[in-house]
Amino acid sequence: MTQPTGIRHRMGQLPRLLDLFCCQGGAGKGYADAGFDVTGVDIAPQPRYPFRFVQADAIAFVLEHGAEFDFIHASPPCQHDSKCQRIQKREHPDLIASTRTALETTGRPWVIENVGDAVPKLRDPVMLCGPMFGLATYRHRFLEAGGGFTLPQPYHPQHTVPQAKMGRPIPPGWYGQFVGNFSGADHARQVMGVPWMNRDGIRECIPPAYARWTGTHARYSLQAGAVAA
Ligand SMILES: C[S@@+](CC[C@H](N)C(=O)[O-])C[C@H]1O[C@@H](n2cnc3c(N)ncnc32)[C@H](O)[C@@H]1O
Repeated sequence: MTQPTGIRHRMGQLPRLLDLFCCQGGAGKGYADAGFDVTGVDIAPQPRYPFRFVQADAIAFVLEHGAEFDFIHASPPCQHDSKCQRIQKREHPDLIASTRTALETTGRPWVIENVGDAVPKLRDPVMLCGPMFGLATYRHRFLEAGGGFTLPQPYHPQHTVPQAKMGRPIPPGWYGQFVGNFSGADHARQVMGVPWMNRDGIRECIPPAYARWTGTHARYSLQAGAVAA
């Protein structure tokens, strides 16, 4: 049922973005900056999430409500694959395949975002890196696009600035890695553009600039009729 979305656009309302596994809203902020009306879903309470929030299982929610949105972003927990998870010996379920299966039922365009170690589970992902957006951190993230939506791979500038080791203080002029038990939360907030987040949100988030770029492509595709509206 695609008609209601078209009617919303004609009435001048913003396109609706579903932010699955939203945490404290790094992705959500970027989509809001790109001009979406954002709704986040997370299994845990997220009192710092700056937009409309629903506490629910993301897969159950998207199966029931996904088709009501114009575009869907999903960041299933990356700890399953990350170096940090292996160091801390924590176990998290791998939700990438089940998220994709659920997204494909919606008939809507979508992206799944994840970390480098999850790349073998992602289909033809594009890679984003901080300096592509003028950010002073590398923080590689990978995006699989689906539901008729595609993304171009931006040019990847060479890493010329040295990067501090995980969790270590950042020497002046170096880039930090804001993961695990990182130091310098205020610096991380400023570098990534997430002033409302605490340390838990910072270590999990994508910089809003990555999602603003994705959301701008999504809005163009929706407007151009390149994906279902
Ligand atoms: C990597 S973080 C997302 C980061 C977010 N995209 C951002 O940019 O700030 C993953 C989130 O998934 C949530 N989560 C884990 N399992 C979930 C589930 N089954 N349904 C909804 N949320 C879930 C966690 O509570 C966590 O907040």
